Amino acid sequence: MKIAVYPGSFDPVTNGHLDIIERASKIYDRVIVGVLINGAKKPLFDAEERVELLKSVTADLDNVEIDSFSGLLVDFAKEKNACVIIKGLRTVNDFEYEFQMALLNKALNPNIETMFMMTNTKYSYISSSMVKELAAFKGDLNGFVPTQIIEKIKEKY
Ligand code: COA
Repeated sequence: MKIAVYPGSFDPVTNGHLDIIERASKIYDRVIVGVLINGAKKPLFDAEERVELLKSVTADLDNVEIDSFSGLLVDFAKEKNACVIIKGLRTVNDFEYEFQMALLNKALNPNIETMFMMTNTKYSYISSSMVKELAAFKGDLNGFVPTQIIEKIKEKY
């Protein structure tokens, strides 16, 4: 069974993230979305809320599981018996940092591969921060995040 882990802050999940999750779920037997708990960033949604939002938007994907983690990503992947870490690349700007992280994670655990998926061009300019800024200024979130979580984001402002 090929298990993949897709890690991130997901504060909140965007259509770009969901696109990666849906495509990965067609390639791997199981995709475990890992929500980082102790990030340096001060989150809008706490980890439990981020997990709930992700669960609601992936409810129709039978082989997708949502969990949270703190500590090293490679340890989380090992604990979940995953052989692959999935990362999305949006633009060339993402590449250098992701390349460094992939090499570091490989050094920490050579048995786990990092696989990169190109983000759908429709979503290449979206980030969770951009969504939060848009929401703070009461902008229209349609098309940027799954419709079922728009109200939850608006409630935070
Ligand atoms: N669509 C839309 N947005 C996307 C995206 C996509 N496909 N892929 C990434 N993004 C956005 C994210 O929402 C995030 O936006 P933000 O900065 O506004 O929050 C931004 O791009 C950066 O994404 P990413 O680099 O994946 O950062 P992250 O904070 O979401 O996740 C972890 C980072 C969790 C993967 C990383 O910190 C980690 O592995 N931590 C564990 C500790 C560890 O093992 N460290 C390495 C060894 S020291």
